[in-house]
Amino acid sequence: MSEFKFDATSDIATSALARKPISGGRFNVHTTSDQAAADLASGIADKIVIITGVSPTGIGADAARVIFQQNPKLLILASRTLGSIDAVINEIRGSKSVENIKPLVLDLSDLRSVRKAADELLQMTPVVDALINNAGVMMVPNFKTTTEGIEWHFAVNHVGHFLFTNLIMPALLKSQDGTCVVNVSSAAHRARAVDFEDINFNKNLRSFGVDPGGILGTGLSRDIPMEEKIARGWWNKDGKPNTELIPYKSVGQGSANYIVAAFDRTIDDKSGACIADSAIDPTAAPHALDPENAKKLWILSERLVGQEFNYD
Ligand SMILES: NC(=O)c1ccc[n+]([C@@H]2O[C@H](COP(=O)([O-])OP(=O)(O)OC[C@H]3O[C@@H](n4cnc5c(N)ncnc54)[C@H](OP(=O)(O)O)[C@@H]3O)[C@@H](O)[C@H]2O)c1
Repeated sequence: MSEFKFDATSDIATSALARKPISGGRFNVHTTSDQAAADLASGIADKIVIITGVSPTGIGADAARVIFQQNPKLLILASRTLGSIDAVINEIRGSKSVENIKPLVLDLSDLRSVRKAADELLQMTPVVDALINNAGVMMVPNFKTTTEGIEWHFAVNHVGHFLFTNLIMPALLKSQDGTCVVNVSSAAHRARAVDFEDINFNKNLRSFGVDPGGILGTGLSRDIPMEEKIARGWWNKDGKPNTELIPYKSVGQGSANYIVAAFDRTIDDKSGACIADSAIDPTAAPHALDPENAKKLWILSERLVGQEFNYD
């Protein structure tokens, strides 16, 4: 095993993962997606919902599963691999033939694909009640950029979603009940000052950043060698997760955050906040909540996608 030197005690994201659970709201760290969706069922029924980044074993797939159980009018699963989306759809609907769950091919690392997917989405539905921007990559080995020259993590995790969200904004703003955009983030947001979007531009739109927590078993850490996970303190030397340092959660406890963010209307007045442990996170880094920083990121994102979006 090669020697990977890393000081876990100075790693902001690791210490954030290891923090004490947040409490004080209607839901908490133990809430599962099944419980949250059952509690918020009336807000999900008959809604049109899109989730990005849906593959078997992922948090997005789990959110799709529990949303589908509460009878949405239409659930659209948008991801880069049709085979993965179809596998999730087959798992969710079983042998039933249903019309209210549909795939949408969307490669967030390619702005042409994002534009095509947004066009297709607007053909599928004139209205969207909730958009869960869940797709993401993590610690991709070797620096790489997209064909547009944007660094891969920034492109997939932020810029692709920025363009997709804005291109489908006409449908989002038609939601009768007020739409919600959920931007899945991570404890890693603490490491550096970059955040999602200006959330104050329209009264009929709520937006939350979500940190699902440390989740075992999804595909996200596929690029991280075991020796690095051990050096960071995430795993023990015996090859087991270090649950003493990090209170790892189930996939369902992670995706519960998405359900709470998108459908819990008792937190409407907290739009713009970050959610973790299925509760409003008072420990989010100041740069993640700074309007000036959000404005700068918005302008940079417009430049990168070559289009301006104004909602005054
Ligand atoms: N797991 C955790 O502990 C944890 C902690 C904090 C935050 N998160 C966040 O939670 C979200 C879900 O992560 P996960 O753990 O469920 O990981 P995952 O299983 O790897 O899911 C990520 C999803 O994003 C998709 N994706 C990757 N690149 C894409 C692209 N260019 N265009 C469109 N879709 C793309 C993947 O599709 P393919 O399968 O086709 O690659 C997959 O469906 C991510 O945003 C992640 O950063 C997770």
